[in-house]
Amino acid sequence: MSLIFDASILQHQSNIPPQFIWPDNEKPCPEPPPVLAVPPIDMAGFLASEPVAVANATLLVDQACRKHGFFLVVNHGIDMKLIEEAHKGIEFFFGMPLEEKQKALRKAGDHCGYASSFTSRFSSKLPWKETLSFHYSADLHKSNIVKSYITNLMGEDYSQFGKVCEKYCEAMSNLSLNVMELLGTSLGVGATFLREFFKGNDSIMRLNYYPVCQKPDLALGTGPHCDPISLTILHQDHVGGLQVFVDEKWHSIPPNPIAFVVNIGDTFMALSNGIYKSCLHRAVVNSKTPRKSLAFFLCPKLDKIISPPKELVSEEHSRIYQDFTWRSLLEFTQKHYRADMKTLDAFM
Ligand code: SIN
Ligand code: FE2
Repeated sequence: MSLIFDASILQHQSNIPPQFIWPDNEKPCPEPPPVLAVPPIDMAGFLASEPVAVANATLLVDQACRKHGFFLVVNHGIDMKLIEEAHKGIEFFFGMPLEEKQKALRKAGDHCGYASSFTSRFSSKLPWKETLSFHYSADLHKSNIVKSYITNLMGEDYSQFGKVCEKYCEAMSNLSLNVMELLGTSLGVGATFLREFFKGNDSIMRLNYYPVCQKPDLALGTGPHCDPISLTILHQDHVGGLQVFVDEKWHSIPPNPIAFVVNIGDTFMALSNGIYKSCLHRAVVNSKTPRKSLAFFLCPKLDKIISPPKELVSEEHSRIYQDFTWRSLLEFTQKHYRADMKTLDAFM
């Protein structure tokens, strides 16, 4: 059975359909939760090999990743204009009528395309959001695959939007490899090992749009989940809504326009032999302002074997996860993913 709600109509209604109402123990906290202390990492200082910046960055990242896997990167070298253009792109795309957006409708079992709970199959605990996801291959960056994907589905009027998405993905892929240098250094496996591991990455980009919700205390924009991918680089707009579950309670990560929020995903947790954590997080909605976020999911090549380097395996740290390919985990998530599932545990 198919439901079609139009988010542009639904956001003005004082009652929300029951499919969007979460169980009491999962509803967002009525009071704003405490702020999570996420360290801001000076990427420019780290990349310039300034000794103090390197020592600071590796220490802060190591502490954060052993505990919850979330940190901020600042001085990241990404043009603010490009970030603004990407946010404008979200407004442009999601501001289109539903029939128009459905030209890019995600097919069952696929992770790319337009998806919206408002057009979801009959289900419960639906997320209050719309998304557009596409594949990005670092090896094919000269072939404009993102722009072609978008214009093939949506038409030439979307060429400028496609160009911005392409440029943004390329910038995120470069930034994520720089972050891999930092993680390689802090894990003690060397600055180049992880950069090489993710060279030619086959990543995923997702644009998130959270419409206004008249009952934000009953619904969630994104339900609690751990990211199955390797690393997420998120830019949230000024509205706020990202929350992380640490020390048995929810914490918020407030927006910071000059920073990207970076978090470890399940695949990286496995690659680090469980030393760096992938942590539950969610996004809440509000009744006043729609929210936008840009999420770049760094993924290795599909047939890359996820196996921790020998430096991370010892008597003290024996192997936690068996070897797997990213393809096998991706296929598993496409078949079995549930918002509240501990994907890696279910997969193993
Ligand atoms: C997500 O984790 O999937 C989305 C987070 C956000 O929009 O802040
Ligand atoms: Fe996530």
